[in-house]
Amino acid sequence: MALSQRYSAVAIALHWSIAALIVIAFGLGLTVDNFPKEIKGAVINLHSLMGLAVLVLSLMRLYWRITHPAPELPRSMPPVARLASHAAHGGLYLLMIAIPLIGVPTLLYRGRGLDFGLFQIASPFERTPDIYRPLTELHELASFALIGLAVAHALAALYHHYILRDDILTRMLPPRRPS
Ligand code: HEM
Repeated sequence: MALSQRYSAVAIALHWSIAALIVIAFGLGLTVDNFPKEIKGAVINLHSLMGLAVLVLSLMRLYWRITHPAPELPRSMPPVARLASHAAHGGLYLLMIAIPLIGVPTLLYRGRGLDFGLFQIASPFERTPDIYRPLTELHELASFALIGLAVAHALAALYHHYILRDDILTRMLPPRRPS
């Protein structure tokens, strides 16, 4: 396959590291109440740091996507499938950026700050349930929408690979070494 028909190494690295971070952040977010009380704060902090990493990497990915156009879709793809693909990718970018942004006030209005290891940021706010409860619900709802969209996105990639047998999935995988 010609180089221009594949995603670049940067796009591939960003794609798979963001995907892994989202899965772990989502899992930690949903299970945080099951951890012992003594480590709950550390789990929320880890969740928040991973979520912030998703935000930073997604902004980098968006910048890279704008400055390095994606390889073209197969000519055989019908217009409705192209539209669905563009809408799903747009929705993924939107949620990958919006969810961490909602997460920040969700954390700070619990009166919790962030511990980056080398330095800490204290919350400037009092613990305010009237604010953090609806924010937590919005944060959770948007996370389920993101996971739903990501599952649909992955199923579409598998459909292309195993049923349509085109190169949509392989061009987002690291290139195989020639045997
Ligand atoms: C892609 C990134 C993220 C995803 C997928 C995600 C997902 C989730 C989910 C599913 C929950 C559980 C909500 C519930 O059960 O009510 C949650 C809770 C939470 N998230 Fe996130 N989150 C992300 C980023 C962030 C960020 C960047 C922050 C803060 C800087 C944050 C702060 C919180 C807080 C404070 C909670 C409540 C934890 C608790 O129950 O005490 N999240 N998140």
